[in-house]
Amino acid sequence: MKVLIIGNGGREHALAWKAKQSKLVKKIYVAPGNGGTENEKGIININIPADNIDKLANFAKDNQIDLTIVGPELPLVKGITDKFKSLNLNCFGPSKKASQLEGSKEFMKDFISRHDIPTALYKSFSDIKKAISYLEKSSYPIVIKADGLAAGKGVTVAKNFTEAKKALKICLEKRVFGNAGDKVIIEEFLEGEEASFIVLTDGKIILPLASSQDHKTRDDKDKGPNTGGMGAYSPAPVVTSEIHKKIMNQVIIPTIKGLDKEGISYCGFLYAGLMIDKEQNIKVLEFNCRFGDPETQPILMRLNSDLIELCYKASKRKLQQTELSWNSKVSLGVVMAAGGYPESYEKGNPIEGLPLETENIKVFHAGTMTENNIIKTNGGRVLCVTALGEDTTEAQLNAYNHVKQIKWKDCFYRNDIGYRAIKREI
Ligand code: AMP
Ligand code: GLY
Repeated sequence: MKVLIIGNGGREHALAWKAKQSKLVKKIYVAPGNGGTENEKGIININIPADNIDKLANFAKDNQIDLTIVGPELPLVKGITDKFKSLNLNCFGPSKKASQLEGSKEFMKDFISRHDIPTALYKSFSDIKKAISYLEKSSYPIVIKADGLAAGKGVTVAKNFTEAKKALKICLEKRVFGNAGDKVIIEEFLEGEEASFIVLTDGKIILPLASSQDHKTRDDKDKGPNTGGMGAYSPAPVVTSEIHKKIMNQVIIPTIKGLDKEGISYCGFLYAGLMIDKEQNIKVLEFNCRFGDPETQPILMRLNSDLIELCYKASKRKLQQTELSWNSKVSLGVVMAAGGYPESYEKGNPIEGLPLETENIKVFHAGTMTENNIIKTNGGRVLCVTALGEDTTEAQLNAYNHVKQIKWKDCFYRNDIGYRAIKREI
């Protein structure tokens, strides 16, 4: 089988690395890929941006690609799957309509309210005056979200009225997010512990992947601005078997069935970002129409089953109900980022000290490139150093032992990835 993976992050490096382990796969292309995929034996980078749908479709046609897997949300929300389907090309990922679960928070919130799926109370606004008068009557903290895709920057947890009003203005007046900020959602603040729950589905059969937990803020102890994710681990002990059942029965199954009832068949990865409170109630914070980044890296490090076989069968709507096979070890990934991220940062700094891989350690590249055989930084989140261990404590120790040897100008990372799980192990 010839496989094309679309995207250039750590998630796509992990997907391509996993594809390499499949007996079904003969050739793997990544468009556009990064320094990590470029240096993997048997993986070929193709210089086409992830959102150039026409060029990607031409490439898939000309090269008789049997299966395309789409990593990031932008091409999905722009309708890459629909385009590929119209050309009889096999693409694993939700349609443009189904991807609205991530592409429009208003669509998502209205949909899950229609289907009684638990989520935070909310109201949407396009008129700033109405939004401000709503804020005047609200209690704090409160959450302000841009409706559309805002590259992970569209959510503000506002501690008071002044902060909330500023977030509204950024969105509706200054138009920092362009059309993605035509509307805002004002949402009740939820307390609890977050978890990421990702499933692979063909629209009928649903296969849950191992649970995971991301660390969204930049600094230790969950401080600082929100980022795309500074590290993740799998499994997340907050997702007990009881909670797992609840998530399937209250969130995942009603979502896939509800979409189906509304004429939308969801085929792809579906990511539910959840808040779990002290009473073990779960609420949906967000849906993503794709695999998580960096969750993919630790999750795939533990997956024994053949991911490509699963994606291929799902794309043909022929998934079978099976139990996936997982390594029983804990996997933990630490993101190493460029100084300045999530704001502006330098590119082109040479990276030193990359370790040799073993069964228990893998460095997934995100923002890297190769220049004259030297690996250099090329993005905000640069690497995700992912390690296995008998428990989270050991996985964390293994990951940081390697992180400490890797260096470039102004690199930084959080020092506490996995702390919630480790607290439970003490
Ligand atoms: P989202 O992109 O909607 O997941 O939001 C990004 C991050 O903001 C989440 O991972 C949470 O940490 C936080 N967040 C979003 N919505 C809420 C909420 N209603 N209550 C508390 N925190 C939230
Ligand atoms: N790690 C969060 C996300 O992929 O959206």
